[in-house]
Amino acid sequence: MRILKMGQVGGGIGAFIGEVHRKASRMDGGIVLVAGAFDVVPEKSLQQGKILGLDPKRVYSTYTEMIAAELALPKEERVDFISVCTPNHTHFPIAKACLEAGFNVMCEKPMTLTVEEAEELAVLVKASGKVFGLMHNYTAYPMVKLAKDMVKQGDLGKIRKVVVQYPQGWLYQLLEKSGQMQASWRTNPKTSGAAGCIGDIGTHAANLAEYITGLKITEVLADLTTFVKGRLLDDDGNVLLHFEKGAKGLLHASQISVGEENNIAIWIYGEEKGLVWHQENPNYLHVLSQTAPEQVWKRGNGYVAEKSKAAGRCTRIPSGHPEAFLEAFANNYANFADTIRAKSDKRKATAEELDFPGVEAGVRGMKFINAVVSSSKKGNVWTKI
Ligand code: NAI
Repeated sequence: MRILKMGQVGGGIGAFIGEVHRKASRMDGGIVLVAGAFDVVPEKSLQQGKILGLDPKRVYSTYTEMIAAELALPKEERVDFISVCTPNHTHFPIAKACLEAGFNVMCEKPMTLTVEEAEELAVLVKASGKVFGLMHNYTAYPMVKLAKDMVKQGDLGKIRKVVVQYPQGWLYQLLEKSGQMQASWRTNPKTSGAAGCIGDIGTHAANLAEYITGLKITEVLADLTTFVKGRLLDDDGNVLLHFEKGAKGLLHASQISVGEENNIAIWIYGEEKGLVWHQENPNYLHVLSQTAPEQVWKRGNGYVAEKSKAAGRCTRIPSGHPEAFLEAFANNYANFADTIRAKSDKRKATAEELDFPGVEAGVRGMKFINAVVSSSKKGNVWTKI
C-alpha cells in the first residue's frame, strides 16, 4: 500500500473536526499528515504545526501559500491530497484552488455556501480528473452499509416510508453570544450559509436517507423555526419528504432539543420489512417484521460481511468491542485513499473502494438546503429539489 501524504486546511488549536480528520486518516497507516495551514490566524497555524511535530518548512500561514509551496516540491514529495476542515463559507474557494492546482480533495460538509458554487465545483472535479471526497461520515458506519445492501437486495420490499432525525440540544441558548467558536460561525449566515441547523446537521440526515434507500428526495415541505431570540438562522426544522418511486417520509433536525446529543437515527419501512439504526448505538442494525421477532444484526460478525462486502470491509475489530465515530471517518478516508491509489496505478477502482460520498452528494446537499429554506420561507409549500 502506497502511503499517501496529506495536507490540511483548518483544524487549528481548539477546532473540532480537524483533529478528528487527523486521527481518523492515520488509523489504517495508509495516510500521513505532512503539511498544513491550520488556522485563519497565521501565527496560530505555525503553533499548531509545531504541536503536531511537522517539518516547519511545511507548516504554512495560508492555504494559498501551502498550495504554491507544495506545487514547487518534486512530485514524489508533494501532498497527494488536501483535507478542507474549515467553516462552510471557505470550502468552495479552498477546494477550487486545490483542484485547480491538481490536488485531490477531501472536503467537509455542507460542500459550499450556494447551489451555484456546488455545481461549479462538480464541473471542476470532473474536468480535473481528481478524486473528491465529502465527509458525510454517518453513511460510513458498517451497519449503515449493511442496511443499504439489505435494501438493495430487496429484503425490505418496495420502500414506503422513511423517518430520519438528527436532534441535538447544544444551541438551546444563545451560545454564540459568548463567542464560542463553533456556535459563532454556525449561526452567522455569512459563514454558515442560508441555513443553520438544516445545513449543519439536516444535510447529514438527508444524505443518510438517500444513501440507504438509494432513492433521491424529490420534493420537500418544510417548517423551519428560530426558537432562540437573537439568533439569525434556523435552530429547528421539520420537513416532509417525497422520494422517487412513491416513497414518503419525514426528517427532523434540531439544535434546541434540550438534552439530546447526536441522536441521528433512521427508520425505513418497506412492503415486507423495516430497518432501524441509531448512531448513538451504531454497532447494531434492527430488522423489523410483522410476522417474526425483531432481528438484531451485530457488527463484526461473519454474517454481516457475507451479506454486505462494503460493511465487512469497513470493520476493524471483533464484535462486542464498539466501533463508532472515528472509525466512520477512517472508513471514508480508507476508500478515498484506495481510489486515489487506483487512479495513480491506472486501475479501475472497485465498487467498494468508490463507496464514499463525493461531489454529487455535495450538490444534493446544497439543493436540499435550498429547497428546505425556500419551502419554509414561502409559507410551508411543497418545493422541488
Ligand atoms: P471550528 O470552528 O472548530 O474550526 C475551524 C478551523 O478552521 C479553525 O481552526 C479556524 O481557525 C480554521 N480556519 C478558518 N478559516 C481558515 C482558513 N482560511 N485557512 C485555514 N484555517 C482556517 O469548526 P468545526 O466545528 O471543526 O467545523 C469545520 C467544518 O467541519 C464545518 O464545515 C462543519 O460543518 C464541518 N463539520 C463536520 C462534522 C461531521 O460530522 N462531518 C462535524 C463537525 C463539523
